[in-house]
Amino acid sequence: MRTLVTGAAGQLGREVTRRFAQYGPVVALRRDGLDITDHEAVLTAVGEAAPDVILNCAAYNKVDGAEDDPVTAMRVNAFAVRSLATAARERDAVFVHYGTDFVFDGDASEPYTESVAPGPQSVYATSKLLGEWFAAGAPRHYILRVESLFGGGAERTDPGDRPLGSTLDRMVDALEADRPISGFTDRIVSPSYVPDVAAATAVLVTTSSAPGLYHCVNTGYASWYDLALAAARRLGREALLSPITMAEVNTPAARPRYCALSNDKILGAGAVMPRWEDALERYLEARQAS
Ligand SMILES: NC(=O)c1ccc[n+]([C@@H]2O[C@H](COP(=O)([O-])OP(=O)(O)OC[C@H]3O[C@@H](n4cnc5c(N)ncnc54)[C@H](OP(=O)(O)O)[C@@H]3O)[C@@H](O)[C@H]2O)c1
Repeated sequence: MRTLVTGAAGQLGREVTRRFAQYGPVVALRRDGLDITDHEAVLTAVGEAAPDVILNCAAYNKVDGAEDDPVTAMRVNAFAVRSLATAARERDAVFVHYGTDFVFDGDASEPYTESVAPGPQSVYATSKLLGEWFAAGAPRHYILRVESLFGGGAERTDPGDRPLGSTLDRMVDALEADRPISGFTDRIVSPSYVPDVAAATAVLVTTSSAPGLYHCVNTGYASWYDLALAAARRLGREALLSPITMAEVNTPAARPRYCALSNDKILGAGAVMPRWEDALERYLEARQAS
């Protein structure tokens, strides 16, 4: 099985590159090797790599930045996905694309399933939802909504652009450096541990699961405060954590308040998505080991 990975220097890109190497050659393209917003370059790269599977890990992930730069957000998260889906369709390749919980409005009171209608509240969320729709243009597609990714590590083309890693990684960095952190008590998430997302992707692809939309998150949900508390307790640094509410922080882009996702569908397809507490423990152990 030949695999092409885009956005290969990102958190998830690096991990799926490692994971899929066990199934055959992987062409891993970072942004400096393939800018996915260049339609012709996408068609050429896919033609040259001749992949059986395309994993699109490239994205414009600056949630607040997208409010000021909607054109870039739409080009990377939506129209470039259309190019990739077109290339996948022409080659009859499997196309895997990653979405986000942010497509929901956050007003629910029980975990969102794949059949709940989205209600994006920001430019970023809208661009990602459009990307999902374009990804579905490839007949053999898997659209995996992930949430609050952690544990991937990443390289940046421009390291000064923004901090490496995601929120939980940066919280643990701070705790380990004895710096105080705060966690939202009223923002509820189902986090996704990067190695578990890569493993679930491999299960869908290698077992030829039904194409479609899947929520690819660890089992369970928690507030950001409770996630941070679990990490702080494990590190013996509980005193460094303080609670905060979303109303206390003004961000340019709206964030959904309640975004627990049901992962029943992907579990039914044979993926193993352990509880977030288990994923957090493995993550902290892996950090200590390295
Ligand atoms: N991180 C999260 O918590 C989160 C939550 C929900 C959904 N997701 C989704 O999960 C997927 C993986 O996210 P991630 O956290 O692994 O992202 P990431 O670490 O930010 O990696 C994204 C990669 O895409 C690259 N990229 C940006 N624009 C590009 C372009 N025009 N052409 C080619 N590459 C480009 C970036 O390069 P540079 O760094 O050099 O710009 C970066 O290497 C994305 O679809 C993301 O939207 C992530």
